[in-house]
Amino acid sequence: MPREREPADRRPPRARVPVTVHASAGEACRAVAGEIAALIAERSAAGRDTVLALPTGRTPRAVYDELARLHREGRLSFRRVTAFTLDEYWPLPATDPRSYRAFMARHLFTRVDVDPARAHGLDGGLPAAALPGACDAWERAIAAAGGLDLALLGIGRTGHLAFNEPGSPRDGRTRLVALHPITRADAAADFGSPAEVPQQALTMGLATILGARRVRLLACGARKASIVRAALAGPVGTDVPASVLQEHGDVRAHLDAEAAGELGAAE
Ligand code: PGA
Repeated sequence: MPREREPADRRPPRARVPVTVHASAGEACRAVAGEIAALIAERSAAGRDTVLALPTGRTPRAVYDELARLHREGRLSFRRVTAFTLDEYWPLPATDPRSYRAFMARHLFTRVDVDPARAHGLDGGLPAAALPGACDAWERAIAAAGGLDLALLGIGRTGHLAFNEPGSPRDGRTRLVALHPITRADAAADFGSPAEVPQQALTMGLATILGARRVRLLACGARKASIVRAALAGPVGTDVPASVLQEHGDVRAHLDAEAAGELGAAE
């Protein structure tokens, strides 16, 4: 039976950024990997490097599996890639298997032919006094590489991009931040208990991320549906950091049907 059209104020809001809804999380990840691979291939063929900002977390693992597969099959080389991991727990030694440096090594960098000297990660093992200098050096390294060609982002249930939690300034740069209790709860499984999750982290700032020429958001699963709606279809504001994506000129969200479940259909 055809459903009555809902009154306008009860219909779910449409996203204010371009969205691709995929049939499954796997399909969303393969699409994102395909776009990254195409960008690298196109730039490499023109003799140019590709500079990427890359996320950790559960969501992007299948992206890295697909990139590693393309490399294994001889269809993709990372020789001309420079990568910057978005964030890192602090304090946590880089050698700790729970560090994001270890995560990126495990899931991507040791599976492809990237030059280890160009696979950058923030160092969670630095003493506090060294952090401001390290964060400045990080920003300079991104600029020296030519700026970010593409930033791939996940979204946390707090609306964070990288570890820019609610309240993070739109003009923020790489710095030490406090993690939100929800973020720490979501990371508890990786650390054994919420109490063991570091209270703080190093993160690229929203301005660092929005400086990327191309930004792609990847979100999957029903638990992301409400924050995806707030970020992509709600007002832009610091209480939902990912809402700043609405202000980027080359942004697209790749969602599975569940993560897109609270968004209205595109026209
Ligand atoms: P997740 O993390 O992929 O593990 O859900 C996303 C994020 O917190 O940015």
